[in-house]
Amino acid sequence: EQPQLLTGKTITITAGPTREPLDPVRFISNHSSGKMGYALAQAALLLGAKVNLISGPVTLTPPTGANLIKIESAGQLLEQALILAPKSDAFIGCAAVADYRAAKVAEQKMKKQGDELTLTLVKNPDVIAAVANLTDGRPYTVGFAAETQDVASYAKGKLTNKNLDMICANDVSTSGLGFNSDHNALTLFWHNEQKELAIDTKSALALSVMSELAKRL
Ligand code: PMT
Repeated sequence: EQPQLLTGKTITITAGPTREPLDPVRFISNHSSGKMGYALAQAALLLGAKVNLISGPVTLTPPTGANLIKIESAGQLLEQALILAPKSDAFIGCAAVADYRAAKVAEQKMKKQGDELTLTLVKNPDVIAAVANLTDGRPYTVGFAAETQDVASYAKGKLTNKNLDMICANDVSTSGLGFNSDHNALTLFWHNEQKELAIDTKSALALSVMSELAKRL
């Protein structure tokens, strides 16, 4: 039985990868399994929150009681985030959002051509920055930072540049942690504070993240 630290709060969490289509049968994506985001949703529910879980394509069973919204692309994620964020006390961006999408999505399956194929990509909208810059109903905004080097400095850069309140950094170069694993380690950064959460299961880390969040809502 967990202390009901989030009773009366609504938390919107994004999880999993996005898929950016190239043609009717192909897409660009990444290795996010959704495990970290789903663990956050489960932890928020255990602490008594109402939870919206905006999820990219994953194979996980959503936690009982979460309001599940399925999306595929970053564009669809942005649309749902902008509907739910202003109705939320906190917004947590754990999804691995593709930074770029195809400039043009082919209507028909692309045919095999020469030995090289060049794709033109264009930048996707930054979902968490859009939420953090809402003028009406801006929620407490928490990002994640997936880094393979200089974790602290890149994470702190994202905290500032995206106008976030808090960021959870993970070093995704460590094997057995981060993407598609049951374990992780996080460093939480606020503008004037930081906290290390040592290697643990994603469920245990999610409970720690949520209790830190509860203190600040
Ligand atoms: O899903 P799992 O297999 O459990 O793996 C968990 C995880 C490694 C995916 C997770 O812990 C994690 O780090 N998620 C964020 C991944 C990511 O996209 O990080 P980033 O450093 O590229 O992005 C920084 C922040 O901006 C994130 O909050 C991201 O959701 C957000 N973002 C990024 C790009 C974009 N166009 N829009 C965004 O909102």
